[in-house]
Amino acid sequence: MKIIVTDSYDEMSKAAAEIFEKEIRQDSKIVLGLATGSTPIGTYEELVRKYKEEKLDFSGVTTFNLDEYVGLDVKDPNSYRFFMEEHLFNHVNTNNENTHVPDGMTVNPDEYGEKYDKMIEAAGGIRIQLLGIGSNGHIAFNEPDEELPVGTGLVNLTIQTIEDNARFFKSKEQVPTQAISMGMGSIMKAKKIVILASGEGKAEIIKKLLERGKVSTRIPATFLLLHPDVTLVCDRKAYSLVGR
Ligand code: PGA
Repeated sequence: MKIIVTDSYDEMSKAAAEIFEKEIRQDSKIVLGLATGSTPIGTYEELVRKYKEEKLDFSGVTTFNLDEYVGLDVKDPNSYRFFMEEHLFNHVNTNNENTHVPDGMTVNPDEYGEKYDKMIEAAGGIRIQLLGIGSNGHIAFNEPDEELPVGTGLVNLTIQTIEDNARFFKSKEQVPTQAISMGMGSIMKAKKIVILASGEGKAEIIKKLLERGKVSTRIPATFLLLHPDVTLVCDRKAYSLVGR
């Protein structure tokens, strides 16, 4: 795993956006895997700036997001489709038809998940995937468990994730308990992966990820240790416990 440690959240965001910019400029029809959560917001801001000030063109880009809450429709401000529109799609020239976020209102999430994976394949596969990491080591909504799903489908959220994400909702009770998430296999098929981590709250999990030298379904992010092209971009606070 390649590791880039930056002095601040802003520097982390710039470093990540630069990696994406390079890929987009190399292939105007690139397929991107995108993530939600508070960590990638700065990366999206920087990509929007590059679109506005440096002519970074998204018109041919196809995107697939990692996950969506079950039961939230696209107009719900807490839905990940809404998030993506607010932070990226509404501010760059992506073509709406080419931006994909799993449908949280689908009646059969597992069947839908299979279709989602096939759509990714049909688009040529994900060239570069952006990831955050949960404080419990989840990537997308693949939560620590005895087994992890390979393909995209329905997942149950852990209490910890519900508590971590309650800050976006009026109360903990309003956080959906299920999601449709890209599976571990779907994520691992991306040619290149960039995982972000910022702040002290991620220091423990980054230490575990980098120091154990083992994969565990109890720390889903450790599967990234098996991938040939992963870059961790994190700030000093998230990296602060490594080696201690
Ligand atoms: P965060 O979430 O960026 O809001 O910390 C990360 C994640 O849960 O993947």
